[in-house]
Amino acid sequence: MSNKKVFNAVVTGVGMYVPDTILDNAYFEKIVDTSDEWIRTRTGIRERRILKDVKEGATSFLATKAAEDILKTTNTSPEEIDAIIVATVTPDMFFPATACLVQDNIGAKNAWGFDLSAACSGFLFAFQTGCSLIESGRYKKVMVIGADKMSSIVDYKDRNNCILFGDAAAGVLLEPSEDSSIGLQDSILRVDGSGREVLNMKGGGSLNPPTHETVDKNMHVIYQDGKAVYKVAVKGMADVSYEIMQKNNLTSDDVAYLVPHQANLRIIDATAERMGIDRNKVMINIDKFGNTTAATIPLCLVEYYRDGKIKKGDKLILAAFGAGFTWGSIYLVWSMD
Ligand code: COA
Repeated sequence: MSNKKVFNAVVTGVGMYVPDTILDNAYFEKIVDTSDEWIRTRTGIRERRILKDVKEGATSFLATKAAEDILKTTNTSPEEIDAIIVATVTPDMFFPATACLVQDNIGAKNAWGFDLSAACSGFLFAFQTGCSLIESGRYKKVMVIGADKMSSIVDYKDRNNCILFGDAAAGVLLEPSEDSSIGLQDSILRVDGSGREVLNMKGGGSLNPPTHETVDKNMHVIYQDGKAVYKVAVKGMADVSYEIMQKNNLTSDDVAYLVPHQANLRIIDATAERMGIDRNKVMINIDKFGNTTAATIPLCLVEYYRDGKIKKGDKLILAAFGAGFTWGSIYLVWSMD
């Protein structure tokens, strides 16, 4: 990273929202050929939350709730927000951006903002982007929210995928600090579009605009070759997490927590093992929420912070892997008491 930072970007607030409706593994036993035992042992998931139907709201509803939580718990008025970045692959619609809808819903009348599409790495990419706005010295309060209504693009007849995903939103407030020992320290972020064939949603974009045919061919749902993704996800996440530790002279003893994207407990365990990090220093809540795509990492941060498990000065390694491929790792020193 450049040394020309004017300020360091630090986390000064957090917020989250998960819907009330719980789908447990027993629910999936009724709709596809699966079992609670298979799901728990192959993925680590016990249940996930979803918005029941469109009447309950879309991704902007989830993101707005998380934004309101941030405002309330930090005692911030919406007019103070300079920018809103929403990481999502399930925007309410192609345009306007979900960030615009959140801005309007919370009354952030002085903000600009945009959506960022990087699938399961969305929060990391948005976090780095938000930090860059703060580091420039031009913006003082930036909201970064990961939000996905995965239930809107899941095929509930496909047992390979439907058991994996849930809906949620969570995020942080970023502000400048002159204390360079806290906040964002480093990031290694990557994309590789040659991975496009094994994890995607083909329909609805400019390549395959919606038609009766694209609907008949089931092109508006997630396609994933799970096995192929699994292999590269383990290697990608572990490699960059290890690299960022080496680059910053961190030993596993220095790291308070690994904060991994929650796609599969086995991928999380393999990443932690490669980094030499004990299981009790790995944030895990996949059992309760499944894979909520851009929301998993902030959801972990909010839960662990509110449970009193992280404190100011704790060194965290955030790591993710997702469609694209996209992947990366962030070294963050926690800045809230
Ligand atoms: N219940 C029961 N059996 C299932 C099942 C389910 N829900 N889903 C798949 N299976 C079956 C498969 O059909 C396959 O059967 P077969 O051998 O007769 O063909 C068998 O279980 C094993 O499938 P496999 O794909 O090898 O399982 P897996 O151990 O790799 O686990 C995933 C599947 C999807 C959980 C795993 O591959 C994974 O997590 N992939 C990565 C997901 C990810 O990280 N995505 C990135 C970002 S979103």
